[in-house]
Amino acid sequence: MYSRIIGTGSYLPKKILTNKNLESMVDTTDEWIVERTGIKQRHIAEDTESTSSMAINASIDAIESSGISSKDIDLVIVATTTPDQIFPSTACIVQNKLNIVAPAFDVQAACTGFIYALSVADNYIRTGMSKNILVIGSEKYSNLLDWNDRSTCVLFGDGAGAVILSADSSQGIISSHIHADGQYNDLLSVENNQIKMKGNEVFKVAVNTLSKLVDETLLNNNMDKTSIDWLVPHQANLRIIKAAAKKLSLPLDQVVITVDNHANTSAASIPLALNEAVKDGRIKEDQVLLLEAFGSGFTWGSVLLRY
Ligand code: COA
Repeated sequence: MYSRIIGTGSYLPKKILTNKNLESMVDTTDEWIVERTGIKQRHIAEDTESTSSMAINASIDAIESSGISSKDIDLVIVATTTPDQIFPSTACIVQNKLNIVAPAFDVQAACTGFIYALSVADNYIRTGMSKNILVIGSEKYSNLLDWNDRSTCVLFGDGAGAVILSADSSQGIISSHIHADGQYNDLLSVENNQIKMKGNEVFKVAVNTLSKLVDETLLNNNMDKTSIDWLVPHQANLRIIKAAAKKLSLPLDQVVITVDNHANTSAASIPLALNEAVKDGRIKEDQVLLLEAFGSGFTWGSVLLRY
């Protein structure tokens, strides 16, 4: 049995913080941010918006687009690093608000969280334990930022994306690959509730690791890079995305890019990008998609699927 994406949804807070806005907050320039990261703006949640409220809005959108009812959902998984509180899990809050009667839990793998969550969900469907799974990535990183630290506060944003994965006998997720290596945990971490990052070192490991991950994913499926129709990468930095596209010899118009408008929304970035390209008609049925991410831990992973 395959796990097929039958619905996608997203939610972005209305409030937008541009690079120009940041110029008046820290010693930075629009030019520096665009040149080093590709980011032009990010969405920032209001105090009244939370990881769970954004997750619920994205889920409603995904459920509507899937054509199934929330009653049909038999598992809820939320990938997040910024839960509303330590417990109950964000997944339980979502489950309750959407009147879903199903087990629910969170997955924490930082920016690779959505890939980890898809991998777990895929295994529940393959083994016949679940038929319709709501998989969400939702993050409120604005809560984790030191707004005086120009090296981190310009990089992140808030938002949520969701998919409905459904058992399908013909096509869906071809393979998923997840990895972790805790030896680099001091390069990117949260200390005293604020992000600390050695950006330059993270950048180098990310580019090398993602390159190997592309090879591993293709080799595992005996597939050539020309089979990939779309790269849907985690959106941390346009330069990292371009390196992955180059590895695949993919022109940038076959790469879904949202980092310019969303910045890095961690576990939410892939489902946000996916939803955008599905809803605007770029991603079409039967196309082959490679989803990949890298994040704190370090964690990294990919999902190859036929849409
Ligand atoms: N505005 C202006 N200057 C800034 C700045 C900002 N917002 N942030 C840092 N700088 C300065 C630094 O202080 C440094 O100045 P110095 O040369 O006088 O010391 C200079 O810019 C270069 O800093 P560096 O960190 O080497 O820049 P970089 O080219 O590596 O770009 C990142 C920084 C963070 C954009 C980049 O390293 C990156 O994207 N790393 C990966 C981050 C990531 O993906 N994290 C999440 C993984 S999921």
